[in-house]
Amino acid sequence: MRFGQFDDKRKEYLITTPTTPYPWINYLGSERFFSLISQQGGGYCFYRDARLRRITRYRYHNVPTDAGGRYFYIRDENGDYFTPTYGPVKRKLDRFECRHGLGYTKVSGKRADISAECLYLVPLGTNAEIHQLTLTNEGPRPRKLRVFSFIEFCLWNAMDDFTNFQRNFNTGEVEVEGSTIYHKTEYRERRDHYAFYHVNSKLAGFDTDRETFFGLYNGMHEPEVVEQGASRNSVAHGWAPIASHSVDVSLAPGESKSLVFVLGYVENPVAEKWERPGVINKRPAKQLIEKYSTPAQVEAAMQELRDYWDDLLSRYVLESKDERLNRMVNVWNPYQCMVTFNMSRSASYFETGIGRGMGFRDSNQDLLGFVHQVPERARERIIDIASTQFADGSAYHQYQPLTKRGNNDVGSGFNDDPLWLILGVAAYVKETGDYAILDEQVPFDNDEKNTATLLEHLKRSFDHVVNNLGPHGLPLIGRADWNDCLNLNCFSETPDEPYQTTGNRVGRTAESIFIAGMFVGIGPEYATLCERKGMAEEARRARSEIDKMRSAVLTDGWDGSWFLRAYDYFGNKVGSKECAEGQIFIEPQGYCVMARIGVETGEAKNALDSVGERLATPYGIVLQNPPYQTYHLELGEISSYPPGYKENAGIFCHNNPWIMIGETILGRGDRAFDYYKRIAPSYLEDISDLHRTEPYVYSQMVAGKDASGQPGEAKNSWLTGTAAWNFVAISQHMLGVRPEHDGLIVSPCIGTEIGEFTVTRKWRGATYVIKVKNTGTSWNRPRLVVDGSPIEGSLVPQAPKGATVHVECTV
Ligand code: BGC
Ligand code: NOJ
Repeated sequence: MRFGQFDDKRKEYLITTPTTPYPWINYLGSERFFSLISQQGGGYCFYRDARLRRITRYRYHNVPTDAGGRYFYIRDENGDYFTPTYGPVKRKLDRFECRHGLGYTKVSGKRADISAECLYLVPLGTNAEIHQLTLTNEGPRPRKLRVFSFIEFCLWNAMDDFTNFQRNFNTGEVEVEGSTIYHKTEYRERRDHYAFYHVNSKLAGFDTDRETFFGLYNGMHEPEVVEQGASRNSVAHGWAPIASHSVDVSLAPGESKSLVFVLGYVENPVAEKWERPGVINKRPAKQLIEKYSTPAQVEAAMQELRDYWDDLLSRYVLESKDERLNRMVNVWNPYQCMVTFNMSRSASYFETGIGRGMGFRDSNQDLLGFVHQVPERARERIIDIASTQFADGSAYHQYQPLTKRGNNDVGSGFNDDPLWLILGVAAYVKETGDYAILDEQVPFDNDEKNTATLLEHLKRSFDHVVNNLGPHGLPLIGRADWNDCLNLNCFSETPDEPYQTTGNRVGRTAESIFIAGMFVGIGPEYATLCERKGMAEEARRARSEIDKMRSAVLTDGWDGSWFLRAYDYFGNKVGSKECAEGQIFIEPQGYCVMARIGVETGEAKNALDSVGERLATPYGIVLQNPPYQTYHLELGEISSYPPGYKENAGIFCHNNPWIMIGETILGRGDRAFDYYKRIAPSYLEDISDLHRTEPYVYSQMVAGKDASGQPGEAKNSWLTGTAAWNFVAISQHMLGVRPEHDGLIVSPCIGTEIGEFTVTRKWRGATYVIKVKNTGTSWNRPRLVVDGSPIEGSLVPQAPKGATVHVECTV
C-alpha cells in the first residue's frame, strides 16, 4: 500500500495521508542551522550540535508519537479550530497534503472552506527556519480567523533539558518586543546566544508560558487559549518557555493572505550581548527578520534553494527507462548522502541527537556519497576527522561536531577505523585531483604541537593494521570492527556495561577477516597515493604487506565455501560451517570480493553463491545465518538482539551494496541489480505499509527472515552508511562511472533489464556524456568510443576544464 507518490518534476515526495505508517520526515538546512520535520509538522531544530544547541524541544517516547513541532492553530469565529498539519488537533481535514522537497517541506490542510498551506524552509546562509502560512478562503462567505502559532523552546542542552528539572524549572527567561518573542534562558550568564520567533504582522496577543497556553492538564490538541479564543500575554518565568503569537486574519471569498514567521538563532560577541542592563541586543535578530519579512523574499530564498540543489544534483545525472532508478540516482540517494554528511548519526527519529557525535568510520564512509557534490566541504571534513587520529594510527571512534575533539567516553580501539580514512582520502583525491591535501599538516589528537602530513596519517592508518596482527597474521579486531556488535574481547555479564567499551579480557588473539578484506581492498589506495608522491619504495613495502594479508586470508580465512568472519578470544572460528549458529556472515564475503581475493581462483564466486543461497531474502540480504538464539558471552552485543533484528541476522542495508559491488566484479550485473532493487526505497513504495519508513530514503535495518515480528519491516531511516554505499554501488559499479586518478572509468555491469541509458557526469570541470548500449554480452570488457575514436580499456582520459566529452560505451 502507498501513502503518497513521487513528484519527479518537482523533486518532491507527495504524502497524501497524514497518518503514514511511521512519521515520514525531511531535513531543512545544510550549513549550520538544521531542522527535522515530519509530515505533520513535528520535529525540532538546532544550531550545529543537536545536543548542545537545541533550539526547540522534542519529546521522545511521547504518546502519541511525534508530538511537538511548529504548529498553527486556525480558529474560526464559531470556535471551531484545526491544525493544517492534521496533528496535534487531529480534526478531520477535507484535504491534506505534505510535500517533502530538497531542503523544504510544504504541508497543507483544508477544513470548512479554509485552506492553509505551511511552507517550512531554512534559507541558504541563514540561521533560521522560515514558516510561511498562506490562508485561502475557498468558500462563498467572508471569514474572520484568528491564527495561533506555537513552538516550544528547549533550554539549549537537550540532555540536561529532559533530566535536570530541579534547576530548569527556574531558569527560563524571555523578552517580548513588538511581534517578536525572544528566548534568552542562561543568556544572563555564560551563553552568548538566544533564539526568537517573529511574525510579520501586528499581534492580537501572545503567550510565552506553556502552562498558560495549554492549561496544565491539557494536551497539545486542546490549548486553553485557542479553545477560548484569546491569548493571555503570558511572560514565562522559569517552567517551560514557548512562543505563541495570535494574529487576526479576515478573508473575503477567494482571498488569500500570507504570514511569514521567522524562528531564528543569534550569537552575539560577549562585548555586545546587551542593549542595556538585562535587555538583550536584538540588532542581529532584527537584521535577520528584515531579510524575510515578505512572501517575495521567501520566494527568492526558495528559488536560491532550488538552484543550489539543481547545481548539486547536476553532477551525476542518469536517464534510463526505469523511473524508480532515475529518481534514486538523481535525487533521493544523493539527497540522503547530503543529510548523512550534515548529521552523521546524530539527529533523526531514531537517533536522539544526544548520544552520538560524528563517527570516525561513519564520516569517512559518508564521504564516498557526497564528495562529488561538495568537494570543498569534504576536504574540511577529512582534516577534521584526521585531526582526531592518534599518533599510533588508532583513532577516537567519535568526535563532537561543535568542538571537533575526540570523545573520551567511547575512546578508541575499533581496529577498522584507521583504514576508512585511507578510503575517504582516496575518494576525495580521485574526485578532485587535489594531491596537495596529502601535504597538509594535520595534528594527532588535536594537538597542534604534534602534527604530520595527511599522507603520514594514512601511513599510520596502514601500519596500525600491520602492527596489530594476531596469531594467524590476520588483523586484531579490538573492541569491534565495522560490526559494532561483534565484541570479541568484551565478556560482559553486567547489564549496565556498554558492550563496545567494556573490554573485560585483554588479549591479542581475536582476529577479523573483515579487516583483512578491507586491508587488501583499501591498502592499494594508499600504495597508489605513495607512488603519486614519488615514494616508490614505500608503495612497494605496502604492496608486499597487502600480498601477505591476501595469503593469510586464503590460508586461514577461508572456510571451504565462504570467508570466515573472525577468530574469537580463544582462537575459535566465528562464521564457519563448524559453528552451530552464525555460520556465515555477509561482511567478509562483501569486502574480500571487493578486494578481489579469490576472484581468479574461484573462492570469490563460491562466497557470493553462498550469500545467494544462505543470506539473500526478498527484502535484502541478512547479516548472518543462522541467528544466535541465546546470549554468547564471547561474542558480545550481536547475540543480545532477538533473532532477525539488527546485527543478529537483520538485513543491515549498509553492507548489501558490498555484495552488489562484489557481483559486478564477477561480471554478474543481473544479480547485482536484483539485490539493489530489493532494498532501494523507491522500489518498495508499494509495500510501505509493511516497510513503514519513508519510501524515499534508505533505512539502516530491515527485519530479517528469522524475525518473530514482521520480516521486511524497516527501522532507523536516514542516518546510515547505506546511503553512501548504495550510491557508490549503483553509480560507480552498476552504472559503472567512477573517477580514477587520471580519468573516468566507464565500465557498467547492471544486467540487461534497464536497457540503454545515459549518464552525464561532471568531473574536474569537464562534462562527460556517456551513452551506454547495453547488450549484456561483455560485462567488465566495455568497448568505448570517445569523441568518435575507439579507445583501449575502460579509462576515459581526463579532459580539460570546460570540455564536453561524448562517450559511447557498448557492453
Ligand atoms: C547498534 C549498532 C550501532 C551501535 C552504536 C548498537 O547498539 O546495534 O548498529 O552501530 O550500537 O554504538
Ligand atoms: C551503525 C554504526 O553507525 C556503524 O558505524 C556500524 O558499522 C554499524 N552500525 C554496524 O554495527
